[in-house]
Amino acid sequence: MNTQPRPLGNSPVAVGPLGLGCWPLAGMTREGITPEAALATVAAAVDAGIMHLDTAYCYGEQGESERAIRAGLRGRRDRVILAGKCGIHWEPGRTQCVDGRPTRLRREVDESLARLGTDRLDLLYLHAPDPTIPIEESAGALRGLLKAGKARAIGGSNMTVAQLERFSAECPLAACQMPYNMLQRGIEDAILPWCRRNQVAMVVYWPLMKGLLAGRMHRGRVFSASDSRHKYPMFNGAEFERNLDFVDALRPIAARLQCDLPDLVLAWTAEQDGITSVLFGATSPDQVLANAQALACDLDDEARAAIRLAIAERGPVAGRRAV
Ligand SMILES: NC(=O)c1ccc[n+]([C@@H]2O[C@H](COP(=O)([O-])OP(=O)(O)OC[C@H]3O[C@@H](n4cnc5c(N)ncnc54)[C@H](OP(=O)(O)O)[C@@H]3O)[C@@H](O)[C@H]2O)c1
Repeated sequence: MNTQPRPLGNSPVAVGPLGLGCWPLAGMTREGITPEAALATVAAAVDAGIMHLDTAYCYGEQGESERAIRAGLRGRRDRVILAGKCGIHWEPGRTQCVDGRPTRLRREVDESLARLGTDRLDLLYLHAPDPTIPIEESAGALRGLLKAGKARAIGGSNMTVAQLERFSAECPLAACQMPYNMLQRGIEDAILPWCRRNQVAMVVYWPLMKGLLAGRMHRGRVFSASDSRHKYPMFNGAEFERNLDFVDALRPIAARLQCDLPDLVLAWTAEQDGITSVLFGATSPDQVLANAQALACDLDDEARAAIRLAIAERGPVAGRRAV
């Protein structure tokens, strides 16, 4: 696979096929992520050559992810592509709030830049459309931030094709960020073709299905109330069991190729048509170092066919919870 940086649409920004998703570093997916571990995870990624770091205003109630990135970069900000998002924040009581009003977006970006210790984001996404206002208003705010030099490229996340159309009519769109993995491939129907037709890069999240496809989860695992994964259908009841059966079907494929399971999954995801960059989350330097090797996992046609069969035998997965 060509591992050279790929351009984000018509923008001046380019990213490699793998990026570090910095949501888990906020400590909201699971407990036990110390600021030191978060910092070390970011530093390990940059040391390992992962130069695309993805975060958001709402990754942590107090911007914990952005703060970890600043600490982990230790003066190496100019070596990385920093992607941030605005438009979702937390209200007291851990209530997630989507607010895409221009004043709110501008304020969030200024706060993010201060927390990250930089004067610009390389890529700024609208995290999700605000259903209470026309998307053009949010797009106009991001266009203003692009013009002001606070962002070098603009992206849209969690949008339908109709929303991407309306957004891109108001603001140059370089990238789209959506969930995608072996079992959640909804973007292939309409969004991915739209991005290809319109020269918009596709950056994908949840390649490891929030850790499930990494192959370390045991049957009967109960997620604590503070681990947000307990809310998703894929981690519950029969769905969880069927997903673990799928993971078991992948193990011999990885073993034959002498790859770790997460590497097989990431390599497959990165090689799918139209995928520009794959964001994997990690909670330790060890996970980063393991995943940074993923593209060395050399898929052959036998492996691709076996994966296709395993996906077909798994069948459709239950719908995802909103953002
Ligand atoms: N635009 C959006 O709305 C949106 C939404 C979600 C995510 N994102 C972005 O996409 C990124 C990726 O998504 P994600 O982090 O939620 O999910 P993910 O990449 O599918 O899964 C990440 C989790 O997998 C586990 N893991 C990773 N490498 C592993 C390894 N080598 N061995 C064993 N376990 C491993 C870790 O979980 P444990 O160690 O806890 O088991 C880690 O937190 C996010 O970090 C964020 O930047 C964006």
